[in-house]
Amino acid sequence: MVMDCHHLCVIFILFRACQGELHCKHEDCGDSTSLYKERYESQTVVEESPYMISPDDFYYKFVAEHRPLVMRRAAKNWPANKVWTQDYLIQSFNEGSQVSVTKGIQNFPFGSKLHLPIKEFFVRSMQEDLMLCDKPTTQMLSDMTAPLCLRCQQFMKKMKVLYWSRQYQSDASTSLFFHPDEQLLTVVNGSAKVTLVSPLYSEKLPFNPEELLTISRLNTDIILKLSSEGIPHLTADLHKGDMLYIPQMWWQHVTLSADYNQFVQFFWPSKMTPNLQSSSKTKDLNQLPSMQASLRSLLRKYEERFLVMGVPPLDCPLQDKRMSDYTFETGKMSPEEYQAIHNGPDFTEDEPCNFDMSNQQSPCHFDTCFEDAEAPICIRYILEYCSRWEDRGCAIELPQLLNKMDKVTMEQITTMKSPYLQAN
Ligand SMILES: *[C@@H]1O[C@H](CO)[C@@H](O)[C@H](O)[C@H]1NC(C)=O
Repeated sequence: MVMDCHHLCVIFILFRACQGELHCKHEDCGDSTSLYKERYESQTVVEESPYMISPDDFYYKFVAEHRPLVMRRAAKNWPANKVWTQDYLIQSFNEGSQVSVTKGIQNFPFGSKLHLPIKEFFVRSMQEDLMLCDKPTTQMLSDMTAPLCLRCQQFMKKMKVLYWSRQYQSDASTSLFFHPDEQLLTVVNGSAKVTLVSPLYSEKLPFNPEELLTISRLNTDIILKLSSEGIPHLTADLHKGDMLYIPQMWWQHVTLSADYNQFVQFFWPSKMTPNLQSSSKTKDLNQLPSMQASLRSLLRKYEERFLVMGVPPLDCPLQDKRMSDYTFETGKMSPEEYQAIHNGPDFTEDEPCNFDMSNQQSPCHFDTCFEDAEAPICIRYILEYCSRWEDRGCAIELPQLLNKMDKVTMEQITTMKSPYLQAN
């Protein structure tokens, strides 16, 4: 008995030491990533809880470990479940004002958007493959209860909320895509089957040269295809009132299985703590890998680092509240209301360069990035740099980088001449 405990303690101490930030090159921490891999590969369905869990449990057991979770019927008492009829929504969105709509569910969420009056959306979506995805109105926010597990500063401070609605033909699927933020997907009405793939396996997924952030080739029988290619994955069947936690950067595929679906999606950013560390060259490549390959390897590295990162303590002073008691970065509002929220010091970010300053080839020294970090040429430079160099900045900057990518930017990035090769 004593020996057993001794053994366990040593493992535990090693694990903690490894988590202790700085010294975690991924060769050293390979062991802890393999612990996560083992657990994940032995599972086929997402873990579930029959009810909502506490912020502490949610944060330390699931978010910090990037472990997906279904909380059954956690939103079953939302007023939204009863009151969000079409008439109510038409009145709430204020008839004339327009909502953002994607045509063709396989183009969701990155494809181009139509802007329609909501009434026209409801009429047209009876015969057309249209999906509404827009910010809820302030009135709609008051029909939702802020999920108990999210009532903490870390989650609520930069929370975004989106409303989805679709009523055209059941059993339609999105492509396989990912989102750079953490997510809690809530079924207000309808049902869905969700398939998830950890970013640790990004490089195993097939890719299409035309797509960077999505994979549409897998669309039918996705589970069969993933199984036949030996790619570990998890599935969850969601019904009215269920909530699903989807970790950031995880590949997700959603099949809407009812003929009328209404969802609410909560998003919040999860950031790595920057730590200075010098960069090192991974490989001497004659040719840079494709954008798809670079991005996927970056996704894997991001997850590996995330899993061994120290966890900041949780801060939860807030109690029972409606969604409308919080201020969001989203929410349909007038420019004046928006200004009132966005005048704090919160949004002036002048962070030092997160990449290795001492490396002359790092994006810190690429002029365009210095002037405009959102320019497509800068994003491309970073992707190319990160496929040649191990640099902590690559993982830290990934969510911000991805948040800036839309379909047009993506096309520019993949077709331009290599700025990295030109500069170095
Ligand atoms: C939920 O969906 C069902 C059909 O699937 C529909 O009859 C009902 O009206 C919907 N509820 C709301 C509030 O929209």
